[in-house]
This record gives sequence, C-alpha cells and structure tokens, in this order.
Amino acid sequence: MKRTALIGHLNTEHENQIVTLQGWVNRRRDLGGLIFLELRDRSGIIQVQVEPESAAFAEADQLRAEYVAEIEGQFQLRPESQRKGGLADYEVIASRVKVLNTAKTPPFELDKGESVAEDIRLKYRYLDLRRPEMQRALMLRSRAVAAITEFLDTEGFIQVETPMLTKSTPEGARDFLVPSRLNPGEFYALPQSPQLFKQLLMIAGYDRYYQLARCFRDEDLRADRQPDFTQLDMEMSFVEQDDVLEVQERLMAHVFKKVLNVELPLPFPRISYFDAMDRYGSDKPDLRFDSAFVDVTELFRGGEFKAFASAQAVKVLVAPELSRKQIDELERVAKQNGAGGLAWLKRDGEGFSGGISKFVGSVAAQLLEQTGVPQGATLLFAAGEWKKAVTALGAVRLALRDLFDLTTGGPQFHISWVMDFPQLEYDEDRAAWTYMHHPFTAPHPEDVALFGTERQGEIRAQAYDLVLNGFEVGGGSIRIHSPEVQTRMFAAIGFTEEQAREKFGFFMDALEYGTPPHGGIAWGFDRLIMVMSGAASIREVIAFPKNNRGADLMALAPSPVEAPQLAELGVATLPAVERA
Ligand code: AMO
Repeated sequence: MKRTALIGHLNTEHENQIVTLQGWVNRRRDLGGLIFLELRDRSGIIQVQVEPESAAFAEADQLRAEYVAEIEGQFQLRPESQRKGGLADYEVIASRVKVLNTAKTPPFELDKGESVAEDIRLKYRYLDLRRPEMQRALMLRSRAVAAITEFLDTEGFIQVETPMLTKSTPEGARDFLVPSRLNPGEFYALPQSPQLFKQLLMIAGYDRYYQLARCFRDEDLRADRQPDFTQLDMEMSFVEQDDVLEVQERLMAHVFKKVLNVELPLPFPRISYFDAMDRYGSDKPDLRFDSAFVDVTELFRGGEFKAFASAQAVKVLVAPELSRKQIDELERVAKQNGAGGLAWLKRDGEGFSGGISKFVGSVAAQLLEQTGVPQGATLLFAAGEWKKAVTALGAVRLALRDLFDLTTGGPQFHISWVMDFPQLEYDEDRAAWTYMHHPFTAPHPEDVALFGTERQGEIRAQAYDLVLNGFEVGGGSIRIHSPEVQTRMFAAIGFTEEQAREKFGFFMDALEYGTPPHGGIAWGFDRLIMVMSGAASIREVIAFPKNNRGADLMALAPSPVEAPQLAELGVATLPAVERA
C-alpha cells in the first residue's frame, strides 16, 4: 500500500516528513495562482497546497470535488496566524498529485448535508455516508460493538446465531412474511426478535447467550423506529431479576466508558411503571429534568369546579411563565395525546389569574402550597381517566422540555430502569386481555394466583425496561419456566390450548424437558447509538436505513416483481381496491 497514514492519524511525529495520502477532494479553491485542496478520508480532512511551479500542478489542476486523489508531499505546520488547533494546524505541500478517479458533480454539497432534504441524502446514501458526521456515527457504533463483545465474552456469554427464516414471534408488531417456493402456499416469518430461540438455548443448557440480532417489525415508523433494526439480545440461566439488572448495568457502564469516556453512576435508579406514569405521564420518562406532576385529585374532589370534581385523576404541572400562544400550542399537544383540553392558571400575587381562576377560589391557598408555583409561572392541568390524563400531561411535559431547554444543566445522559409493569393489559379495541411485554414473561410469584380472576389486571410482571433520556433503549424479563404457568398465561390472553399449540407447540414441548429458571433482555442497539451520538433520528446511525414509508430510496425497495417469480412462489397479488 502506498499510503503512509490515514489523514486523522497524522501528528507531530510526521512533522516535516514526506507523506503519501489517498482520499477524496473535499473542496478545491484557487487563490493567487495556488491550488488549495482539502483531502478527506474517513479519519479526517487536511489542507493541501499546490504551488504553481510544482511538478504536481498540472495534475492537481484537474481535480474537482469528490475526485479520488493520491497526494505526496511534506507534512508541515501552517504559518502561526493560520493555526486553528489539531489537524487544522498542519498542511501538506504537494510534490506529486495523481488523479486516481474522477467523479460526477455530486447532487448535493456534502458540507451542507444536514440541511439537504433527507430523501436526496437517502437516494445517494453512498455520498451521504462520506460526510464526517455519518462516518463518526458509524465508527461510534462499531466501537460500541467492540466494547459489548469484549465485556460479554469476559463474562462468559456465548454468541449464537438464530434463524432469519422462521415462525412468527409475538412482539406486538405485524410480521414480514417470506413465501416458500418449496412449500407453496406457506410462509416463513422474519423474526420480530430471537425470543423463543434464546429461551430454547437456555433449555439446551447454554447458560449465557448473546447476539447482535437483526429484527423485523412491520409497524408504523417514527424517528426512533426502523422496520429492519438491530438488537443486542441476551439471555441468562439460573438468574433472578437483580442478577440480570446487575450485569446489564456493568455492561452499559463499560460501553459508555469505552465509547464516550462517560462514567454512568451505578446502580441505575429504578422507578415503577405506575410511578413513571403517575409522576411523568410516560413509561419511558425523560429524567434528565424533574418537573414531576403534582396530584390534586383530592383537592378538587366534589368541589365547585365540575370538570375536576369527579375526575379519576387531576394532575398539575408547574410550567414557566407562558404566553397565550404558548398555552394554545401546549393545549394542542394535550389534545393530540387524548386530553379534552388543557386547563391553566397563572400565579398572580397570593392567588391566580386567567384560565380557570374563577373556579379555584376556595382551593387557591392549598393549590399554591401543594405546587409551590412561583410568581408569574403557570399551572397546567389534565383531568379525567387516570391513564388518559397522565399521558396527555406527559406529552405536555416533553413539549415544555423542548420549548424551554429544561434538560440544560442536568446530566447529559440519564439512564434508569422502569420496573413492575402489569403482566396484562386490557385492549379496549379488541375487548380482550393481552400481554404487556410478551407472553413468556414471568409474573411475580405471589401474583400467579390472580390469573383467571377478575383481578388479573393487577398481576405484576417481572419485566424491566431500560430508559435513556426518554427513550426505551431496552426491555426484558424473567421468563416463565413452568409449563403450567405458561398455560395459564396463554389462557389469560384468550388462547385456547389448540391455538397456543399451533403457534408455539415446539416451545411448549421444550418447556417440559427440564427448563432452568432464566431471564434476559434486548437492547435496541440502533436507538442506543442514536442517543449516545446525539443524533435526532435512528436513520443517522444506520448505514442504509429505510425512510418513514419503509422504502429504501437508493436500492428502490420494496419493488414490484415479475409475474413468473410470483407464480413460482404460488403467490398472487390483489388489486389495490380489494386490499384490506
Ligand atoms: P422489545 O420488543 O421491548 O423486547 O424490544 C427490545 C428493544 O428493541 C428496540 N426496538 C426497536 N428499535 C428500532 N426499531 C424498532 N422497530 C424497534 N422495536 C423495538 C427498543 C426495545 O426496547 N424479545 C424481547 C426482549 C426480551 O424480553 O429479552 C423484545 O424484543 O429499544
């Protein structure tokens, strides 16, 4: 290889040496007869100067943006007045330039990457990936993989790969299906997670497993979701909940230390699902700032303000001084998240003005005391059915965070466990009970007796989520290892024995052959890297992501296929009108 170093690895030791560099022309400027080039590789950018009388000049003169070039020259300090620190203190005085390849003019300026329409960036992803921001994100991702592998190998976890062409795994999303040519009319499902396989590995005695696993979920996409994403999936045998959490905390701390040189305080704080919802209106609360709700249900119970008098919950959030326009905007957020409206009050002397002030006279003093609202600040209320009220106010809390930068001054990263989720949730649309995590999650042992009773909604799961800066970056549980409890769980969510057997027969059989107590977790690896790198979207940390409509704009997938290929698979498509 002719290259003597990657650009970013050049340092004082190379000073005044002749170096050979290879990379892309980031920019070219002509000034006073000189050619100034910026040469870029994945590690950095360096200025190259080509003097008019140099033998390199004629070749250098052909270079345009994104041409591939080889440059030989002296690596030296720039004049003192031009030094900006780091590599920008240096330049290369070219003695030889070679055009290794030409390039068409790029469809967007790489420097302006962040402001270019995302669809263009995704269409020309190979150019977008040349941008230093993208390269930094993918290198951070790679360092995280290395840190994870190092830690888990040392802790006795073994890597096992599980199939991509498999049967449906219930993680709450729709499956991507793959037709089988050899078994016409039959389909594989791509895994939503390796859940059942990792449990089978525990039954098979592998004790500690991990995998960076590709998962596929056909669900509506958001900034933190992709249809095709990566989990760090782990499972451990002979463990209780605290054992899993302890290993996870050390692993996460190791990754943050290795990748970002950030020390995460251990142990991670724990909050119950109920408290997270009740105080912050979210099962993944952003705890970089507090702004917890104050409960004023009892204060208004049976009182003069009819809208609050019989509400199941009345919660209030103390907000800074707000303009009418800001209140209207926050009300819109509350309504979008299920609230009928957003009542408000402004602290005014020893009482309140504006909003619902004429209804709170009799409780004003107590309201002041309970909320401690400062002069001029605003109280925002949500009232009604508990979950609806807290969820709407939770969305308002996040909108306030964004409006007033409430996380400034707090920790850069706040990570916590959300625990004690309900085992079952009532699905109003289907009028049926369903699982909250997945149907293999173990209930608290003392709650098992509640299965099949009218109190089954009170069963607590041994499940836990990892929440980082308001994002769910992981979820797991202790698993059911008793066939009898597994059967009761299936029954609770309305599966008949036949239905359960049809879907998970192989797994139910396996459970009966000596299943150890076990539990585990999966991290949303892309989501974690997104938060660690400060990216606004998961697409910024995935090399070739899909857009919000699930499309790969570069490869143009999904795409229609030829009729013979469908026929071979025994598949026919319905005309658009007949599709559900
Ligand atoms: P769960 O469904 O909670 O649990 O998924 C684990 C983590 O994966 C991430 N995640 C996603 N990331 C990007 N795009 C998506 N579409 C997406 N869906 C989920 C989240 C989530 O916390 N088998 C269980 C884990 C277990 O019990 O061990 C599971 O998959 O960060």
